[in-house]
Amino acid sequence: MTEVRVKASNSYPILIDGDLLKVSGNLIRKEAGGESACIVCGDEVAKLYATKVGESLKSAGYDTHLFVYPHGERSKTPEMYVRLLNYMAENGITRSDILVALGGGVTGDLAGFAAATYMRGIRYVQIPTTLLAMVDSSVGGKTAVDLPSGKNLAGAFWQPEMVLCDHSTLETLPREVFIDGCAEVVKYGILKDPEILSLVLEPERNIERIIEKCVTIKRDIVQEDERDNGKRALLNLGHTAAHSIEKLSQYSVPHGKAVAIGLAIIARAAEANGDCDKDTADFIIKILSKLSLPTTSMYRPAEIADAIAHDKKRSGDSISLIIPRALGDCEIRRLSLKEAREYLIRGV
Ligand code: NAD
Ligand code: GLY
Repeated sequence: MTEVRVKASNSYPILIDGDLLKVSGNLIRKEAGGESACIVCGDEVAKLYATKVGESLKSAGYDTHLFVYPHGERSKTPEMYVRLLNYMAENGITRSDILVALGGGVTGDLAGFAAATYMRGIRYVQIPTTLLAMVDSSVGGKTAVDLPSGKNLAGAFWQPEMVLCDHSTLETLPREVFIDGCAEVVKYGILKDPEILSLVLEPERNIERIIEKCVTIKRDIVQEDERDNGKRALLNLGHTAAHSIEKLSQYSVPHGKAVAIGLAIIARAAEANGDCDKDTADFIIKILSKLSLPTTSMYRPAEIADAIAHDKKRSGDSISLIIPRALGDCEIRRLSLKEAREYLIRGV
């Protein structure tokens, strides 16, 4: 088992192993205590893993409750969040109890936001079951639901008590969803640690090492800038164009595929603008292609570049672009929307 510890407003362990679900109850009891445990999960994950986690929690002495919602981003809404709060209230969940987010990033964000706000904040544990959630969304305390006008517009920073990454759960993940998560893994490799770019070419074989390396990078950034006022923007590498593509497609392009295209666009743009050399840009695109991730988009350059004006990371009329200078070396550059548009358009 591998352990990475986060020391932010709450100090907590991330445990990574291939057999954690069946001992999850005892691990949660030891780290977080509490009386009742309320598991939150989507219907697909509920069928696969809710019984195993529920039994483990019961054998560790918890009274258990299970809130199941229809899987998918369409459930990450204020309505589902209120339904979850009502479920907790009707089942007598109090501040001494624990919420357990069992699933992908949608579950983590929804349950995390409910934990952040129910009775002004209760403790919660993340048990991520997608690669994206293991390497990114379960760590760092960003929680949110979507509003009709945009993704993640209502949320809170609220750190979990622990993160349990049982990577055996990835065996049931559809191949397509697993590969989408690899786009975020590639992001970490470009940001800080090029060795990840070799490991990701055999993702199943290297899974524990990949998760450890990615969460260590995220941990270091979150510890420096928990509230996303500076360095945490680095985690947005490739995401400016990705957010445009997601929005233009009305979220029919999955996040991972949009990030892959966004990484290719920023790599080509950095090359065209003289910030990185051709070999670096070509290498990034080659890795994405080897993973069968897309590197070009169906939208016109001007459409993608114009859509950045709606990015929520924009402030006033400027936006931070994360620019790869070399593998493992990226820069946060504040540009006006007009400059950012011109910069990106050279990469599309
Ligand atoms: P997801 O949670 O929708 O899961 C993808 C699909 O996989 C779902 O259909 C789910 O039912 C299924 N699934 C999950 N685990 C499974 C398993 N082990 N076996 C079989 N099926 C399984 O999507 P995701 O990609 O994990 O997360 C995307 C969400 O994460 C987005 O809402 C995004 O905004 C959010 N996110 C949050 C952060 C953060 O820091 N909080 C960071 C990145 C992304
Ligand atoms: N996934 C971006 C962040 O956590 O800041």
